[in-house]
Amino acid sequence: MDSFIFLAFLTGAVRAASCPGYRASNIVKTTGVLAADLTLSGNACNVYGQDIIDLRLLVEYQTNTRLHVKIYDAALDVYQVQEHIIPRPASQNVSESDAALQFSFEEEPFSFIVSRSDTREVVFNTTGQELIFESQYLHVQTALPSNPNLYGLGEHSDPFRLPTERYRRTLWNAESPFIPRNSNLYGSHPVYLEHRGSSGSHGVFLLNSNGMDINIYKEAEGQQYLKYETVGGVLDFYFLAGPSPLEVSKQYAEVIGLPAMMPYWTFGFHQCKYGYWDVNMAAEVVANYSAAEIPLETLWGDIDYMNLRQDFTTDPERFPLHKMRELVQTLHQRSQQYIMMVDPGIHRAQNYSTFLNGEESEVFLKSDDGSNYLGGQWAGEVVWPDWLAPNTQKWWRNEFATFFDPDRGIDVDGVWNDMNEASNFCPNVTCNTTQFDDPSVFPIAPTTPPRNNTGRPIPGFPADFQPENGSDNKLGRRQSTNGMMKGLRDRDLFNPQFTINNHRGAMSDGTIYTNISNADGTVQYDTHNLYGVTMVMASRQAMLARRPQARPFVLTRSTFAGAGTHAAHWFGDNNSTWADYRVSIAQLLGFSSIHQMPMAGSDVCGFNGVADEKMCSRWAMLGAFMPFYRNHAVIDAPFQEFYVWPNVTRAAQKAIAARYRLLDYIYTAMYRASTTGSPIVNPLFFIYPSDQNTFGIDTQFFYGDALLVSPVVEDYSQSVSFYLPDDVFYDFWTLEQIQGTGANRTLDNVDWNDIPVYIRGSTILPLRIESANTTKILRQNDFNIIVAPGKDGKAAGSLYLDDGESLEVENSYSDIRFSWDSKTFTASGNFGFATSLIVKTVTILGEGGPITQQGPWSLSGQFEFTLS
Ligand SMILES: *[C@@H]1O[C@H](CO)[C@@H](O)[C@H](O)[C@H]1NC(C)=O
Ligand SMILES: *[C@@H]1O[C@H](CO)[C@@H](O)[C@H](O)[C@H]1NC(C)=O
Ligand SMILES: *[C@@H]1O[C@H](CO)[C@@H](O)[C@H](O)[C@H]1NC(C)=O
Ligand SMILES: *[C@@H]1O[C@H](CO)[C@@H](O)[C@H](O)[C@H]1NC(C)=O
Ligand SMILES: *[C@@H]1O[C@H](CO)[C@@H](O)[C@H](O)[C@H]1NC(C)=O
Ligand SMILES: *[C@@H]1O[C@H](CO)[C@@H](O)[C@H](O)[C@H]1NC(C)=O
Ligand SMILES: *[C@@H]1O[C@H](CO)[C@@H](O)[C@H](O)[C@H]1NC(C)=O
Ligand SMILES: *[C@@H]1O[C@H](CO)[C@@H](O)[C@H](O)[C@H]1NC(C)=O
Ligand SMILES: *[C@@H]1O[C@H](CO)[C@@H](O)[C@H](O)[C@H]1NC(C)=O
Ligand SMILES: *[C@@H]1O[C@H](CO)[C@@H](O)[C@H](O)[C@H]1NC(C)=O
Ligand SMILES: *[C@@H]1O[C@H](CO)[C@@H](O)[C@H](O)[C@H]1NC(C)=O
Repeated sequence: MDSFIFLAFLTGAVRAASCPGYRASNIVKTTGVLAADLTLSGNACNVYGQDIIDLRLLVEYQTNTRLHVKIYDAALDVYQVQEHIIPRPASQNVSESDAALQFSFEEEPFSFIVSRSDTREVVFNTTGQELIFESQYLHVQTALPSNPNLYGLGEHSDPFRLPTERYRRTLWNAESPFIPRNSNLYGSHPVYLEHRGSSGSHGVFLLNSNGMDINIYKEAEGQQYLKYETVGGVLDFYFLAGPSPLEVSKQYAEVIGLPAMMPYWTFGFHQCKYGYWDVNMAAEVVANYSAAEIPLETLWGDIDYMNLRQDFTTDPERFPLHKMRELVQTLHQRSQQYIMMVDPGIHRAQNYSTFLNGEESEVFLKSDDGSNYLGGQWAGEVVWPDWLAPNTQKWWRNEFATFFDPDRGIDVDGVWNDMNEASNFCPNVTCNTTQFDDPSVFPIAPTTPPRNNTGRPIPGFPADFQPENGSDNKLGRRQSTNGMMKGLRDRDLFNPQFTINNHRGAMSDGTIYTNISNADGTVQYDTHNLYGVTMVMASRQAMLARRPQARPFVLTRSTFAGAGTHAAHWFGDNNSTWADYRVSIAQLLGFSSIHQMPMAGSDVCGFNGVADEKMCSRWAMLGAFMPFYRNHAVIDAPFQEFYVWPNVTRAAQKAIAARYRLLDYIYTAMYRASTTGSPIVNPLFFIYPSDQNTFGIDTQFFYGDALLVSPVVEDYSQSVSFYLPDDVFYDFWTLEQIQGTGANRTLDNVDWNDIPVYIRGSTILPLRIESANTTKILRQNDFNIIVAPGKDGKAAGSLYLDDGESLEVENSYSDIRFSWDSKTFTASGNFGFATSLIVKTVTILGEGGPITQQGPWSLSGQFEFTLS
């Protein structure tokens, strides 16, 4: 933080210090519930707006481990996140004496403390700084122990364990090329986990979608604080008791929802590039992957396929519809998949049916004079779907049904929503949107002619697979309804006095202007951070309408708390640099273990800039141990498909073979995530919560809960020093036993197609006997079970099996529990999935090397054996 910003920060603090705070009265307690009035206890200080005089406090002991503390305006005018976007968890009204967390408060000036019932440890403490609740500014802070271990607070490219001095997290979804450090990026998740080692972990979720700064800082005397400053909304806190980090994660999922179960095939390897010029080039990529013997599961279509960059159209010259249908048909015949991009900006063109249909259904955001609110996106001058308007879902569903029609359109397997922060090419309010339709100012159509592939057959594709010859913006808003939690009137929705530290500039810069209202009477000022998640909710429903039986796959760039229940996420437009290779691990840890978005990963080999062979070799291997595994690059980046370089080819072949053999292990972890909230990817401290050495580690991680991945992280290095907890491990590649000592281990000469991966003792892993070139073929392969005994000689694990794609599997699934007690191996549990697959071998690891027991054992019922 530079000194200028820090000065501004102190000025705000000084102004806030003179506020009167609130007085609690009319305190009513019933079982599990405490309610009170909070009244401003002095003259309004109006730091950044009007103080709200009458508030209410509601405290609910919702479950034994969850405390809900809500402070809101008595008139219910202030905006609250719509229930259909984030359904609120029900309260079980447990009695205080049964609750792990206790709420206590001071009446005047009002402040509160949340503490643990058993140890009295204080987890949240607002004493000492008056609560400020204004029309456009909320301020509340908690004292923390010194050097706290804090994780979460939305998408960023900073260390996983957050800095604790002069550190600011801004939550305001923004287009963020090159994922700048210390900045707000694409996703807002106002939740953190604080880990205090042996005294436990807890979580704090503030259900508030308004723009905010969260400051983590230390006073001169050394006292540590975390301070929230928002530009609106209410203080709606959920405190999660843990006490283990894993339990915090699960308790957060109880609040915002369990992540969506993903189709089996989505764990395959994906390839995309902005800049596949025509359908032939795209087909060639598929053929080249096959020729290089690198399994490709899914081809992606970026905006290149569109006619004039318009959603739901294809470029008639480069991507003619019948060729696209052939492409998808061929992919499907080869048991591969196809995914396409759909952006929110809808071209305002009178000959464009998607726009005209939307006009007729009144689905677009409006300026206050009732005209369409305009902006700029890839197609040119665009209008914006209002995801809160009554007809938007129907319109969106119809556009999907038509364009993605299996019989006449493009039968996609998944959909990709980009630009949904929303990203507006208008930098600020002085924007002339007409310019985006002026090709001399904003050339949107590709300038290079389609490639001439005549005479060059594409292996695996039909022989004739060849290309064809080939207003002023009104500011303001509609009147919103007063009351009903839709937002206070008479606010400056454009230039709030309190400015958050948005790296794009003012709140409206580069996005939909914040004073635009939604059809339900709310305003973008309050709902901006929900634009992306409401879009993917609509896309998910539209995909379900096409294929009602199939689990939808939607990838989103913009997220908010709870987005994992609808979609997967990638970390946006990173750089092809070693720094962003490293940071992808910290980002994955945040999304998987804190934000409940387990299906996540970075653009492998980086999006912007030039990837080189060594870096891409390392990244191809690292990405194979992340749930979402996709190589993607920008239009002006050189090709970086894995087959481009010999060493990357070898690295990818090896990594994908391992990933595919492990696919059911990670699919089982996905199933657990979607049913219990346990993360797919675990930070080391989730597994070793009392080992302090693990708290800051963000260049290693557990893939599932059994595989410790410790990639080489330094630029162009072949050495790595990584932490190995005091436990038994086994090298995944050689199966050799390795004793961890709670110290670092150094490996030199790590080849360009190698990545250190260790199996943690006390786990059991199901592996497919061999890999395959697609996940469909992989699913026909039998299993080898690896038993990795722990210090006590015992181990446990599980295998979940279903058809890999049904939305509702009913009873057709198996959830098989494996255990090893140092002599006997047992497989028991539920065997509802009809299968002829078998366990061919069970390999028991140990000090003296692996022992392999030959099967076969059927996977349709229990079995056990004892080693003599
Ligand atoms: C908890 O109390 C609220 C009212 O305070 C009530 O609406 C709700 O039904 C109660 N829930 C249970 C599970 O008893
Ligand atoms: C709460 O925080 C205040 C201000 O830092 C501190 O003086 C007080 O001792 C804390 N209370 C408890 C119970 O920790
Ligand atoms: C990413 O690349 C851009 C353009 O080369 C550069 O300006 C930026 O500093 C890089 N960002 C990081 C975090 O390396
Ligand atoms: C596919 O491979 C061929 C032969 O090596 C090469 O000429 C072509 O450029 C490749 N195409 C793509 C899109 O990578
Ligand atoms: C996978 O391998 C099979 C047989 O080895 C082959 O028929 C099929 O075309 C391959 N599929 C892909 C996508 O490479
Ligand atoms: C729509 O009109 C524009 C401008 O006249 C033209 O460039 C474009 O090709 C037309 N699109 C279609 C689908 O006819
Ligand atoms: C708006 O953006 C343009 C282009 O970046 C810039 O030249 C202009 O100074 C900006 N105006 C304001 C008011 O920020
Ligand atoms: C807006 O852009 C259009 C297209 O480039 C141009 O013709 C027009 O003069 C511009 N208007 C203003 C006020 O600059
Ligand atoms: C494409 O290339 C072939 C062979 O080089 C040539 O005969 C043909 O005229 C070209 N077609 C076009 C449309 O450029
Ligand atoms: C490719 O890998 C080999 C074997 O590890 C190594 O000797 C060579 O330097 C690598 N080439 C590049 C360009 O990284
Ligand atoms: C020990 O390993 C961690 C990675 O987990 C690394 O950050 C640290 O630099 C290593 N320490 C030394 C002394 O190499």
